[in-house]
Amino acid sequence: MFVGLSDPLLQLAHGERELERIDAVLRSSVETGDEFLTQVASHLILAGGKRLRPLFSAAAFSVMDPPDGASDDAIKGGVAVELVQVGSLYHDDVMDEADMRRSVDSVNARWGNLTAILAGDFLLAKASEIAASLGVEVAGLLASTIGQLCEGQVIELQDVFNPGRTMDRYLRSIDGKTAALYATACRIGGIVADLPRPQIDALTAYGHSFGMAFQVVDDVLDTVATEEQLGKPAGHDLIEGVYTLPVLHSLEGPDGAELKGLLGGPLEPAAFDTAIGIVRSGDGVAKALVTADEYVSDAIDAMSSFPDNPVTSALKDTAQLVVEQARQITAAA
Ligand code: IPE
Ligand code: IPE
Ligand code: MG
Ligand code: MG
Ligand code: MG
Repeated sequence: MFVGLSDPLLQLAHGERELERIDAVLRSSVETGDEFLTQVASHLILAGGKRLRPLFSAAAFSVMDPPDGASDDAIKGGVAVELVQVGSLYHDDVMDEADMRRSVDSVNARWGNLTAILAGDFLLAKASEIAASLGVEVAGLLASTIGQLCEGQVIELQDVFNPGRTMDRYLRSIDGKTAALYATACRIGGIVADLPRPQIDALTAYGHSFGMAFQVVDDVLDTVATEEQLGKPAGHDLIEGVYTLPVLHSLEGPDGAELKGLLGGPLEPAAFDTAIGIVRSGDGVAKALVTADEYVSDAIDAMSSFPDNPVTSALKDTAQLVVEQARQITAAA
């Protein structure tokens, strides 16, 4: 999914080199004395992924464009964040009963739920260990972010198969499960760079708004894109009873009553086709993308107190790209 979303950051002077440094630390962080655990814990890391969050940590460190790029601590901070991301994906795929991730078998599909849960825990533990090496503030921040992630997922879980899910609870859920980690990725970069507090807060606001746009777009793409494009199951939110922004808008639209009659429980294949057809053909997707646009504007506004330089431009470009890509995929669908 999102081929090229990391490109603006990779095209920075230190971008590719920083990705290599991130990958090296990431791989070594999951090497254990147990061959099986190492294999399972490395599975999704070796499969790919955009590494957007650790690249954000590195870019946030470099927001004043220092000549040498990110420090080793900024790379470590980014790796801690990526380990939380990967660990949460192990758990997410158990909860969502997803069999594909990063275009390979999900961990639960390959080794079963018990192994996926344990290996996900292991990744979260490794993340905490690395964060602790960066000091009390980073360690506390990462821990509270994992808590927010769980809170967001619990709100989602409470609303599963509920066609009366409110927009407010949807937004609270994605705030916790996705925006919090992007905010933290950026904040850690600012903290280890020892930037002034108002700048650290501005970076955090950028990451938070970006993350909100990112999850709205992920939810749109689940509705309009294919498994090949996503590298993970498509149309899956509806099957799992996770009614996301395009669906909530469609429920308020002209075909809302018909859609509501279909939702509320597991869908037979024909009912699924009808339901997703209603969501795709109405204005729910376009409305959701307008919401994503608003978060992108907020992200760009959050960067306004920083000087114009290649790093700040790349961060603003990345925010714009997330919705641009979604519009292209939507238009082609
Ligand atoms: C997937 O995140 C989880 C969501 C918040 C939607 P990404 O789309 O960033 O996944 P990777 O890390 O590139 O695989
Ligand atoms: C992302 O939500 C949740 C996480 C915090 C991992 P999704 O369930 O929509 O993520 P994908 O679509 O499976 O990547
Ligand atoms: Mg999922
Ligand atoms: Mg999920
Ligand atoms: Mg999704």
